[in-house]
Amino acid sequence: MQNVFGSLTHAAVFLIVTVNVGGEDKARELLANVTGLERTVGSRSLGGALSCVAGVSASAWDRLYGAPRPAELRDLPVFAGEKHQSVTTDGDLMFHIRAERMDLCFELATLIMDELAGAVTVVDEVQGFRYFDGRDVLGFVDGTENPVGAEAYAATLVDDDEGFNGGSYVIVQKYLHDMAGWNALATEAQEHAIGRRKLSNVELAEGVQPDNSHVALTQVTDTEGNELKILRDNMPFGRPGYGEFGTYFIGYAKSPSVVERMLENMFVGSPPGNYDRILDYSTPVTGVLFYVPTVDFLERD
Ligand code: HEM
Repeated sequence: MQNVFGSLTHAAVFLIVTVNVGGEDKARELLANVTGLERTVGSRSLGGALSCVAGVSASAWDRLYGAPRPAELRDLPVFAGEKHQSVTTDGDLMFHIRAERMDLCFELATLIMDELAGAVTVVDEVQGFRYFDGRDVLGFVDGTENPVGAEAYAATLVDDDEGFNGGSYVIVQKYLHDMAGWNALATEAQEHAIGRRKLSNVELAEGVQPDNSHVALTQVTDTEGNELKILRDNMPFGRPGYGEFGTYFIGYAKSPSVVERMLENMFVGSPPGNYDRILDYSTPVTGVLFYVPTVDFLERD
């Protein structure tokens, strides 16, 4: 199993690349060696908590590994509501690198890119940081409802797809925020958009919680009413000098359909039209779905 359950850390790098024609062998070799590189860099810092998760998208799977392919590996659909629409963007491989310090992430990203030289084209690279009490740049504590322990394993690891069990699916989206618009809202209006209190992080009580809050729209259940969880590790990023303020969304799940249902609720709305108000202040500029193979799969001959 790759380090999907790596703890929330203070720093992260999100690297998305496409594999050039002819670069397939090098890409496969790097993927087989990526946990070795993780150990190489990670063992240089005790307590650095370095981890790396690599994902492969539908566009690259057949070129790299051929048949069979993971049952639910597909292109991420676009979710289009009356007002807001998600986007899908290029990306064959994803590297989600986490550590307590940016130098560890930076070093591992450098070694990965050294090994991939000439074989890939970089689509996007984002350096994320942990902001105050685990808040996103909108000012709210982010990650509270993440499953832990056995519940996290059950929510994220594929268990019904022979040959691909123990892997996971991950969806990433890079969002840019309209901070002027968001900051112009009264704190109470922001709390109604998110569904939790800003300072204390307490979830809004029933009756106060709007049915179009972010929290309400991302709580999805199966047909028996059991809540379906995903594992998130969103990171703030930005360049204040350029007016750039963002959230890098990353969500792991045993089936991409769980994350897709949340996206449907957010963008289209539940019921349609009753969309997520954070989208009035948050614009997605990327979107890709990847399968995260097990280490055994990546390292097999
Ligand atoms: C909850 C922020 C995008 C899924 C939350 C919370 C915050 C937040 C502050 C409440 C605390 C918590 O439980 O973590 C954001 C921001 C986003 C974003 C700033 C991007 C602009 C997304 C997306 C999804 C998602 C795209 C899924 C497709 C969830 C889920 C919860 C949650 C499942 C927990 C709901 C619950 O069980 O209470 N998010 N989020 N978020 N978010 Fe997001």
